[in-house]
Amino acid sequence: MKTESGILVTGGAGFIGSNFILDWFHGDGGPVVNLDKLTYAANHANLLEIADRDEYVFVRGDICDAELVGRMFAEYRPRAVVHFAAESHVDRSILGPEAFLKTNIDGTFTLLQGARAYYSGLAGEEKERFRFLHVSTDEVYGTLAPDDPAFHEDTPYAPNSPYAASKAASDHLVRAWVHTYGLPAMITNCSNNYGPFQFPEKLIPLMITHALGGKPLPVYGDGQQVRDWLYVGDHASALRTVLADGRVGETYNIGGNNQKSNLEVVTTLCALLDEMAPESKFRPHQQLIRYVQDRPGHDRRYAIDAHKLAGELKWRPKESFETGLRKTVQWYLDNAAWVENVTSGAYQQWVDKNYGSRGMQKRDTQTAGEGSL
Ligand code: NAD
Ligand code: DAU
Repeated sequence: MKTESGILVTGGAGFIGSNFILDWFHGDGGPVVNLDKLTYAANHANLLEIADRDEYVFVRGDICDAELVGRMFAEYRPRAVVHFAAESHVDRSILGPEAFLKTNIDGTFTLLQGARAYYSGLAGEEKERFRFLHVSTDEVYGTLAPDDPAFHEDTPYAPNSPYAASKAASDHLVRAWVHTYGLPAMITNCSNNYGPFQFPEKLIPLMITHALGGKPLPVYGDGQQVRDWLYVGDHASALRTVLADGRVGETYNIGGNNQKSNLEVVTTLCALLDEMAPESKFRPHQQLIRYVQDRPGHDRRYAIDAHKLAGELKWRPKESFETGLRKTVQWYLDNAAWVENVTSGAYQQWVDKNYGSRGMQKRDTQTAGEGSL
């Protein structure tokens, strides 16, 4: 096992973490140790391509476990930490916030303490180059009105969901560990990601997989909420850039400059599926759209101003929303077995719990929609 001078990734079996690790190895970034608890959101199959490499080590464990975290630093002596591990789904945080406080706040605290103890024992070049990169979200900034300027790094924090509040708390901890203990950390706040390996509880993979299965496409409220979409590969490249050249103690916003309403995203996906899955029995897929009861406290609009990252570190996304969405739809069409695997069992219980009592209304009519999720 060659793990010296590697990076410690937390949550690397989840959606963004696994895309980041694959991208890291494609770029020949060096050894990776992946610490992941393997919650429902994780999937080992995402990392099959690199799982047998000498430079990759997987450790199943919880970032809240201080003893384990201490051992990970002592044993693998990473040159950096890239911290993805989190509970990440807003709807789950509304129905059960405890796990979010535990992992996102306590877990980040435990990791920061482990990193701090390890960092204090480093010297010379090892100390000079150590970095802690905290991967966070634009949701910490709250919600925007239609004409408000996009979130920038100085936008005051105003989190609205239990998930966003827990991520905001974790950001504050990281900031305090930089300021008080001199830990060389950086924070990134990114907008909505989409792409391969995303668990189909989130908008885009849920709509693709439901449409292909002929199930209703549940649009919350009036569907006019706006999100700023970024292809996951572009998020990975932004994180590599910040890790390599970002300034210690700084925050960098990451976004794709792709503001779309949810209804626009869903209708675009339906049109893409009509074209890319011509054998589908459910064309035109738009007929499956249903309005359902809104998410409580639903943030109306997110938008990211990523000028700092572009100006200071010369990062730009490669994918447009059109190219990224097409790649994503193709990936889900090509990976039916992956979808089948993650949507069997507990997934259906989640769908029943989250959507069961929301009611359904067809598009452009007042009539109740039929079909079950
Ligand atoms: P995900 O839910 O797909 O994956 C989370 C991973 O963390 C899973 O592999 C899970 O097993 C692991 N994990 C959870 N609790 C853990 C614990 N206690 N100990 C160790 N591992 C644990 O999440 P994602 O969408 O890949 O998001 C990754 C990170 O990026 C999160 O911190 C999230 O807040 C942030 N983020 C996500 C988005 C997005 O659009 N998905 C956007 C911006 C920021
Ligand atoms: O902005 C970054 C955040 O983006 C990340 O920090 C979160 O981890 C990630 O989950 C995501 O949060 P959102 O709540 O924006 O993503 P989600 O895919 O759950 O929902 C996107 C929009 O679509 C949101 O306005 C709610 C709506 N929606 C979602 C689902 C699952 C629906 O209308 N119907 C649905 O069934």
